[in-house]
Amino acid sequence: MNGTDLIQTELNDGVLSLRINRPEKKNALNLAMYASLAAALRSADLNAAVRAVLISGTDDCFTSGNDLADFLSAPPTGMDSPVMQFLLAISEARKPLVAAVSGAAVGVGVTMLLHCDLVYAGNSATFQMPFVNLGLCPEAGSTLLLPRIMGHQRAAELLLLGETFTAEKACALEIVTSVHEDAEVLSFARNRALQLAAQPAAAVRLAKSLLKREYAAQLRETIAEEATQFMARLKSPEAAEALQAFMQRRKPDFSRFV
Ligand code: COA
Repeated sequence: MNGTDLIQTELNDGVLSLRINRPEKKNALNLAMYASLAAALRSADLNAAVRAVLISGTDDCFTSGNDLADFLSAPPTGMDSPVMQFLLAISEARKPLVAAVSGAAVGVGVTMLLHCDLVYAGNSATFQMPFVNLGLCPEAGSTLLLPRIMGHQRAAELLLLGETFTAEKACALEIVTSVHEDAEVLSFARNRALQLAAQPAAAVRLAKSLLKREYAAQLRETIAEEATQFMARLKSPEAAEALQAFMQRRKPDFSRFV
């Protein structure tokens, strides 16, 4: 096992496993974790021994998304920020990506799934994209990919209301490939990754890039535009209120902002 303790990496039988492991903070992603994930994905693309990548969290949580304390103390400042490097690496990955989701997937914990090729969820997994609830805006190319997958209105409902939804709904909305017993989801996803690793690697890479060909350039541009808006929103009074409310464990009050 390699990598930092917070992102555990292991290469076995052609499958690079990336395990998000910060359970005491519900696997919230800090700067070092984004940097480790970005580096692992970039090096996977260059390493012929890696034929598929498996992304997972811990048993009770996939990831609660960006570390909310970091939004205040170390916000992203440009495309070279660790979070942006991660988003570019995952959205441009050439190797097939498989995700196993157990427990909560929040924020980037959901939007990163849009860049995975196969996504398996445990039946009690939950999903939420509370960017607007936090006074922010959606990221990771989700404003392009979600309406493409499910149409404007269903994407708007998920993004503008930012409610939590079930694995069953995530599957119906085509964010998740299939739903499994909680105890079995990781091994099911791992077997799928092993199956991918046994496929002819060049043909897999080619098929993946052709599947994304139509929107690849637009995706990169959307990720950059969302990032510009997101960074500006982090300085907004609405975001300040939402982030303070989270830290103070109270409900935010947006009534004074127009
Ligand atoms: N960033 C930083 N810390 C986080 C976090 C995040 N995204 N999510 C959870 N934590 C921390 C909590 O502050 C708490 O820390 P503490 O024990 O030091 O007080 C710990 O993780 C456990 O979280 P808690 O809220 O008590 O767990 P829960 O099981 O009741 O709820 C979540 C889990 C994921 C539903 C809830 O923590 C949550 O909504 N987190 C925020 C998610 C979010 O808004 N992410 C950003 C999206 S852009």
